[in-house]
Parts: sequence; structure tokens; C-alpha cells
Amino acid sequence: MHRSIYIETYGCQMNFADTEIVNGILREQGYELSDDLDTADAIFMNTCAIRDNAEQRIYGRLSNFEHLKKSNPHLVIGILGCMAERLRTDLLEKNASVDIVCGPDEYRKLPALIDAAFEGEKGIRTQLSRVETYDDIVPLRTEGISAWVAVMRGCDKFCTFCVVPFTRGRERSRSLDGVVGEVRDLVARGFREVTLLGQNVNSYLDEGRDFADLLVAVAAIDPALRVRFTTSHPQDMSDRLIAAIAQHENICNYIHLPFQSGSDPVLEAMNRTYTREHYLSLVRKIRASIPHIALSTDIIAGFPGETEEDHQLTLSLLEEVRFDGAYMFKYSPREKTRAWKMGDTVPDDVKGRRLEEIIDLQRRISYDINREQVGRVETILLEGPSKRSDQEWMGRTGTNKTVIVPRSDYQAGDTVQVRITSATSATLFATPVETAQVEAA
Ligand code: SAH
Ligand code: SF4
Ligand code: F3S
Repeated sequence: MHRSIYIETYGCQMNFADTEIVNGILREQGYELSDDLDTADAIFMNTCAIRDNAEQRIYGRLSNFEHLKKSNPHLVIGILGCMAERLRTDLLEKNASVDIVCGPDEYRKLPALIDAAFEGEKGIRTQLSRVETYDDIVPLRTEGISAWVAVMRGCDKFCTFCVVPFTRGRERSRSLDGVVGEVRDLVARGFREVTLLGQNVNSYLDEGRDFADLLVAVAAIDPALRVRFTTSHPQDMSDRLIAAIAQHENICNYIHLPFQSGSDPVLEAMNRTYTREHYLSLVRKIRASIPHIALSTDIIAGFPGETEEDHQLTLSLLEEVRFDGAYMFKYSPREKTRAWKMGDTVPDDVKGRRLEEIIDLQRRISYDINREQVGRVETILLEGPSKRSDQEWMGRTGTNKTVIVPRSDYQAGDTVQVRITSATSATLFATPVETAQVEAA
């Protein structure tokens, strides 16, 4: 009998890529993968531990699954991913409904864990590895336009606020040949875009070949393939990497480059390894080489000891750089990290107010930048009908901006030249242009 497995994924793109690896492993072992929660024999959550609210969401969902288990006592419930790694036996001991706990480097053990659980035996595997990259596993992806390809795992940066080095272990890279082979296969299957993934994707290293080498090798596979990557750490943003982006038409002009705080004492306490001035000069260098580059970032409000003056410096850095977009968070203390010992000194209402100010400012800047796009001609890759209306299609520019166009007889994966007609802080609206018009523009 084929047992059916249902998996829900939370957290960052690394987790979504990992779920495809898990699906690849399970399918290989003959399990049936299901998207029907109510009839599945086993339910898994691939979890995130980055902030407390991410974990609270998982507990909320787990209580729904507990109800299902009441009517079906044979139901197996498993926790995968970063929360599994962070909490380990605690998860089993404090949550009677949980049968399996499996960390990010132990997915090859899942079939054995699942078989034991169907026999009524609970199991836990949370060893981290210095070598596991799942390089030989073929991730199970549904057909589509855009694929995520994990090229490295783990993180050695130890930013003092961050739990990732504890949940995902030491940094290690896949082989360059393995990545290139996988992308070739994706191109042959009709994928039009790949995003190379890693917590610090630009610290990729395989036998002396660095991330610039990898990016160029992937871009060379097919000039029509769009190549993206995330997340870049400012420390590893080399001149060679900037040159590679500048020189290859199909490497997208978009860099996600978290700065976290605009104030040097806070950056120091965060162990981010750069100063405000370093960061700003890096941005100037990138823009000098790649004039139309889009930049986005991550920001934390209310790190321990953050003063009003520090916060103002974060706002002024936003004004100075003018990012196209940002992910903005309230500081959340995480056990085991160095910042945990610094206490949670900024009161929650102050954190909240600072975060609001950051969000308001960034929204205004995103809106201004998007408005400046009006009238421009862009090439967009169409992903599918828009979520809002079946009279519209959604696509993306190379700079990763979402563009809405009126419906036509498009296919997902088409590239279309459009002229931007209007904008909000989050979305551009456009109409298709004829080739002749483009030349005149
Ligand atoms: N590796 C990436 C991103 C890691 S997590 C990087 O280095 O940029 C994504 C973002 O979550 C981080 O950039 C940071 O802004 C935020 N984050 C991480 N830990 C946090 C914490 N304890 N509280 C609030 N935000 C946090
Ligand atoms: Fe966390 Fe810093 Fe590593 Fe990013 S670079 S995953 S923020 S420790
Ligand atoms: Fe969350 Fe783990 Fe990603 S903690 S952000 S799922 S690496």
C-alpha cells in the first residue's frame, strides 16, 4: 500500500527548496505525495525558527493537526526544518501529537523515520553535517517557469541576532558541475528562470571556483535563461561578482543586499563585519558598474541597545541608498545567539514605532522609484494570470518588479516588451508594445 504524505512549507526559499529535496527523496522511496490534508497518512511541516512569531504560527497550525489526529489516531505528524533543529527533543516531549522530528541535514533518514512512525515508534534525527549538500538528489519540482536551486547550505557568519548558524550548521557548497547539470536539465524541461540560493550565496566555493565563476557558468548554459541569486552578504560582494553581473545580459540586474542597521555601533554589536561607510561605498561601486541595478535589503528595528540616534541613522541610510524594496522586522531574541545575552532592551512599543517609521519611509521611496518607471519600456517574463483578476497577466522585470498587463493569448514563460503606464509602491502596470514602437522609444 502506498502511504500518502502531505507537506506544508514555512520560512525562506531555502526551506521551499528543501521541501523539493524531501519530495525527491520520498518519491524515490515510493511514497505518494499528496496535496490533500484530510486524506494524507502523514502530515509534515517544514518549519522556520528565525523569529518568535514564525514559531508561534507553527504551533497554531500544529493544534489544527492535533484535531485531525483525534479522529484518525494513525495519522503521523512530523516537524522538519529549522524549528526541528532548534528545539529537538523538546518538540517531542512537549507536543504529544508529534511523531517525527527531523533537522535540515537529515532528510535522507526520513523514509526510515516514517516507516517506524507507521509502526507506532516516534523518532528524532537532528545531527548537523559539515558535508551534506544533497548534490545527488533530484529535487521534485512541479513544472513551471521559475525554479529555485540551492547551491550552498548553512552559514558561518554568526550575526549575533541570528539562529540560522545553529539551525543549519556550517557553510558548505555543492559542486559546480552538479549545479550546472541540474540547471541544464531544468532548461531542457522548459524552465525559463533559475534563482541560485544560499544563506550567503556569494560565499559559494567549490575547489577554488567562487560564486562569480558559478554564476557565469550557469548564465552560459542558455542566453535565454534568466539567472537570479539570493541572499548576498555585503562582505562577499566581490568586484569579480559585480563584473559578472554587469557583463552578462541574462544575469538579472537585481541584488538583495541586507544592511540590517545604518549605525556603526549597532552593526558592530550585530557582528555584521562592515560599517555604514563600507556599505555605502559598496552600493556606489555596484551602481557605477551596473547603472540599472535594483537593490533590496533587510532591516531589523530595535536590536538590543539601539538608541533613537541609531534608528535615525537607519532611516537616513534608507534615504541615501533609495532601495527598490525592503523586508523589515522587529528584533526577536533567539536563544543560543550572542545577542540573547544582551537582553531585549528596546521596549516593544518603541520597536513597533521604529518599525512603522522604517516601513512608511520605504513605502514612499518604493513608490517614488516605481513612478519613475512610468513611460519606460521593459522586457517581462510572464508567470501566469494575475491573482487579482483573470482579465490580467502577471510578469516580472529583470529588476524583479511585478508587472500587470491586460490579458492576451499569452503562455506562461513568454517574454513580452511592455511600456509601464502606472505604478503603486508594490506593482507596475503596463501595456504591450510593438517592436517598431520600441525602436522609436
Ligand atoms: N542570510 C541572509 C538572511 C537570513 S534571515 C542574510 O544574511 O542576510 C532573513 C532576515 O531575517 C535577516 O536578514 C534579518 O533581517 C532577519 N532576522 C534574522 N534574525 C532575526 C531576529 N532574531 N529578529 C529579527 N529579525 C531577524
Ligand atoms: Fe543569519 Fe547573518 Fe548568516 Fe544571514 S549572514 S543567515 S543573518 S548569521
Ligand atoms: Fe527560517 Fe530556517 Fe530559513 S530559520 S528563514 S527557514 S534558514
